[in-house]
Amino acid sequence: MPRLIDPDTGLSPTEVTLDYGAHSHALLDVEHDFPQGLTRQSFDPSSDQPSGVWRFAQLVDPELDPDQIVTLAEGNTPLYRSESLCAASLLPGLRIKHEGHNPTGSFKDRGMTVAVSRAIAGGAKALACASTGNTAASLAAYAAHAGYPAIVLLPEASTASSKLAQAIAYGARVLRVRGDFDCAMKIVAELAFRGDVALLNSANPFRIEGQKTIVFEMLQQLNWQAPDWIVFPAGNLGNCTAFGKALREALALGLIDSVPRLAAVQAEGAAPFAASFARGFDRLDTVHAETLATAIKIGAPVSFSRAVRSIRETRGEVLAVSDEEILVAKAEVDRAGLGAEPASCAAFAGAKKLALRGIIDPEETVVCVLTGHILKDPDTTLAYHEGRLGEASHANQSRIVEPDLSEIQRAVAEWDAPGRGNA
Ligand code: F0G
Repeated sequence: MPRLIDPDTGLSPTEVTLDYGAHSHALLDVEHDFPQGLTRQSFDPSSDQPSGVWRFAQLVDPELDPDQIVTLAEGNTPLYRSESLCAASLLPGLRIKHEGHNPTGSFKDRGMTVAVSRAIAGGAKALACASTGNTAASLAAYAAHAGYPAIVLLPEASTASSKLAQAIAYGARVLRVRGDFDCAMKIVAELAFRGDVALLNSANPFRIEGQKTIVFEMLQQLNWQAPDWIVFPAGNLGNCTAFGKALREALALGLIDSVPRLAAVQAEGAAPFAASFARGFDRLDTVHAETLATAIKIGAPVSFSRAVRSIRETRGEVLAVSDEEILVAKAEVDRAGLGAEPASCAAFAGAKKLALRGIIDPEETVVCVLTGHILKDPDTTLAYHEGRLGEASHANQSRIVEPDLSEIQRAVAEWDAPGRGNA
């Protein structure tokens, strides 16, 4: 059995069991006894294991019976190099780890395969989460695949349409809460505390174990040569927690020789972690969150204390970028042919900002993590290109035409005419 410990005291609370329902108010870590003799060669990418999470089972959950794993062949996401993004960021050593290439279109699937497997193995009857959208879509899919009910609470006013559609289509019981994510989170934690449901948010320590594989997989793709920086968007701070834990474990096991610095990027209107960092992490002041990057529209991040540890241990940075900077970064990421949802592109905006400020040196190697697929938020993408979000430096407007050959020839010719701005 994996042990659950309180990361602040290092103690194993005596009441802890694998039933997360009863312990949703405590932030616990999973502590493993890793098998002896693990090396870089222990995680063969050419094995017939179809999951990029379970390839690292020995680092994620060595004790779970393989028959109890609920998987959709998640992970194995690409690590890109893009000339245009290197140029736009002034970072020749930039790579892009695209987590949008997961079964439900976001990194959430990596944590969900582990946490859903563990929750069901532990006897959970109903699985629940609050979500800005992606966690709900992911939980809905994994629960459906396992034949279990999922209950998801989404903020009514600010959930991107594709994520809502996914949760509905996968068959979850979808509750659209008249309130924000933070209030939905409080309610679902209370439901879990009363034992009504198992909590599948990233407060669940097995979510963190699965999300560690973003880092393990990227290190493997880089031949275990750790980059100087890993830059990622931050909301509820699950990834920040997971990345720090993954690096701590990779170093302790001798899989890497140096530890990358973590850079967590928030949206300006939802930046309580960045504000706390600027004050030396004295405390967390929660905020009322506002940003068009709805995935990270979170004012009371649950994993704050665990994320502080990750930033401190890696000499990390936490910064905020404006919605305008996110939109420009998104246009650049999309036009590079990679594409990602707005929240993901906060990471690229953050990498650019850190390079401009001279905090990231042009000589350094950087992996920027894109967390969600371009198709996750089509409404924001269209609103940007149609000029409904203010000035759009990369606007690309479609045209409606009659089904007439000469009209279409004329339209195509106009496209390339000087001054049209669509080249
Ligand atoms: N990027 C995307 C696309 C997300 O959906 C989220 C979080 C984050 C970044 C932030 O990650 O919470 O680990 O700091 N989405 C959650 C959800 C809150 O409900 O889907 P984090």
